[in-house]
Amino acid sequence: MQQYLNIFQQLATQYFRQDRAVSEPISAKDLKKIIDFSLGFEGADVEALKQAASQYLTYQPDSAQVDFFKLLYSGRNDPALLGDWVTSLSNANMHTYQMSPVATLMEQELIHQWNRLIGFTNDSKTGDGIMVSGGSQANLIGMMMARHRACPELKTAGMSAQKLVAFVSDQAHYSGQKAANLLGIGTDNLIAVASDSEGRLCPDALLEAVEHSIAQGHKPFYIGLTAGTTVVGAFDPVPKCRAIADKYNIWLHIDGAWGAPVLFSKTHRHLLKGCELADSFAWDAHKLMNVPLTAAVVLTRHQGMLEQTCGGGGGDYLFHSDENAAYNLGQKSIQCGRRADALKVWLSWKAMGNKGFSDKIDRLQDIKQGCVNTINASSQLHMIGPSPYLNVLFQYRPEVSLNEVELRALNISICKTMQAQGGAFVDYAKYQGQTGIRLILANSDTQTNDIERLLEHCIKTGDSLAKAS
Ligand SMILES: Cc1ncc(COP(=O)(O)O)c(C=O)c1O
Repeated sequence: MQQYLNIFQQLATQYFRQDRAVSEPISAKDLKKIIDFSLGFEGADVEALKQAASQYLTYQPDSAQVDFFKLLYSGRNDPALLGDWVTSLSNANMHTYQMSPVATLMEQELIHQWNRLIGFTNDSKTGDGIMVSGGSQANLIGMMMARHRACPELKTAGMSAQKLVAFVSDQAHYSGQKAANLLGIGTDNLIAVASDSEGRLCPDALLEAVEHSIAQGHKPFYIGLTAGTTVVGAFDPVPKCRAIADKYNIWLHIDGAWGAPVLFSKTHRHLLKGCELADSFAWDAHKLMNVPLTAAVVLTRHQGMLEQTCGGGGGDYLFHSDENAAYNLGQKSIQCGRRADALKVWLSWKAMGNKGFSDKIDRLQDIKQGCVNTINASSQLHMIGPSPYLNVLFQYRPEVSLNEVELRALNISICKTMQAQGGAFVDYAKYQGQTGIRLILANSDTQTNDIERLLEHCIKTGDSLAKAS
């Protein structure tokens, strides 16, 4: 063991050096020439393992650096890293209290706190929840509870002839399609409702779509709102959609995988106004809370619903009726083996406190606003979407007039060129017909001058690419 600990320490020290490039882009074809990926009959020695682990880290984009803007998370979280390492060390399993006593109670406390932030738990009511592998699984379970409430017999009898129909906005994450596929709803029966110019689902369009579906003899059962859409960070309007859900007895889920942490901030929590009216809620700790993947939760205000929907089986050998039976969280999950993700989330929440998350969001929102102001003041950069949260989507436009196809090609080239130069790692995204550079502000260490440097780099790269073409 000691030799592995030594190797780990050496690799970690090297990995955390400040002068690493954010990424070392390389094609799969070239990477196969450098690293020996083959597995064989004979085992390899520790040196070979060390080399492979080191090569793994060399080509791994470094999401901890301030120049990493590509994904909905960035930065290093030392308390959470400690939790992740200890979790691997213990190899705990979260199906039963017996197999993870401490992490089970940590998960319960986390679920209590998340529910309080949403408003599912207060002096008169108590919400429920279970940690899951990510927002995609949280959205799946949200839709599964909705299906179970609409048609409880499906759990045992399987699909019926009744056509179930689900609704999300045209800006919703693709995990809705995966859920509709997995649950036998069919992706054709997941309706993408129009969003407005701010990227928010239009309640009038939702009402029309629900009534159209009923007129066709179908059964609407699920409305999935998004809190923080993936591309522009829009927040769908909850109260108006709740009224529609109530009118037709439809389950209302909120996908807060990205935007939910805004609830920590007194200044910005208004973006999720009315979220306590939802039936269920998805929240990723591995995005803005910056806990290493994977850590997420699905929450619901309906006690018992998770267990009714997901529970069943395992009574013969795993879920014993002992004095701790009430603490066996596995019956609320669709998994059997489940990692103790609670530890890293709990340690990092303990270290930061609610105030730490609130300060992070307020600071990043201020930096975001400065970034938007700089873009708006620039003659070459143009915002192409709203920016209510921590996403900034903008387009570089040269002096000569280009059509949208040409602008798309140019902005994609800017992202690729900057990455290839070992500079900032940004990505491009399409929103309402236009393609631009998507910047995600998620790293607590980001400073205004990092953003100014990035925008200047975009302009410089755009100018030289435009000149060369
Ligand atoms: C709005 C939204 N929902 C859900 C997801 C999926 O989350 P996960 O990657 O944790 O499955 C994402 C991922 O980016 C997202 O942006």
